[in-house]
Amino acid sequence: MTITKSIAKVRSIIKKQKLKNKIIGFVPTMGALHQGHLSLIKKARKDAGFLVVSIFVNPLQFGPKEDYRIYPRNFKKDRALLEKERVDLIFYPYPKNMYTAGFSTYVEETSLSKSLCGKSRPGHFRGVATVVTKLFNIVQPDIAYFGRKDYQQAQVIKRLTQDLNIPAQIRILPIIRQKSGLALSSRNAYLSQKEEKKALVLYQSLRLARNLVKQGQRKPHFIKTKIAKLINSRKNLKIDYIELVDPKTLKPVKKIDKKTLLALAIFVGKIRLIDNTII
Ligand code: PAF
Repeated sequence: MTITKSIAKVRSIIKKQKLKNKIIGFVPTMGALHQGHLSLIKKARKDAGFLVVSIFVNPLQFGPKEDYRIYPRNFKKDRALLEKERVDLIFYPYPKNMYTAGFSTYVEETSLSKSLCGKSRPGHFRGVATVVTKLFNIVQPDIAYFGRKDYQQAQVIKRLTQDLNIPAQIRILPIIRQKSGLALSSRNAYLSQKEEKKALVLYQSLRLARNLVKQGQRKPHFIKTKIAKLINSRKNLKIDYIELVDPKTLKPVKKIDKKTLLALAIFVGKIRLIDNTII
């Protein structure tokens, strides 16, 4: 396994692998790897002849009051996990090399990125789209893998690869959950035991919505109100958003009469967590 911080070295390694006709698989991450990441990496390992994982906590996708400085970082542990998964190359760049002095070019998706998390985290998807485009230009993957937990992110990335003619296939893989139902996320590392229990309300909300729809409920407002009641009945939880949207456009639906995405974001104490399901 090669580990490098150098963009030039990644380029030269990839060039050689492409000459050997190897399929380049790519899993971009911000590190603090968990089973969710590993599910992407295991799938990529099966598909790809050469597997690249990037670890880069991207400052551009964090707002000024967000957790960039304290975002969990544990390179030693991540490296050991990636070694075990037989990853070929870890790209682990410095922020100053990704964003050199005078950096002033951004990639912005202007529709899908505006609802849901885009509303409460202005600039977040511009940061994601910019770094993913840069990473794709550096790694030149044939296939790139993303998790469905970040549903909106995955849709924005699919859109941008299509719009900007980036020749990478985007594969989106299922959410991995703890037995309790809590979706795996690097931010779960911030939660105390008590908060982790409180965070189960996310999964409970998804189940509540599913049951209501199964019982014939079709009104988004009714379902959102029920979920809000459930969340507001518990201490230390704050709703950021609860939305029922079209899974393709991410625009709110008026009636649940076809596949609908339920997406929610809540604060458990100070920690913002998201989850979603298709109903
Ligand atoms: O999902 C993430 O970990 C990040 O948003 C990504 C895609 C690696 C871009 O920084």
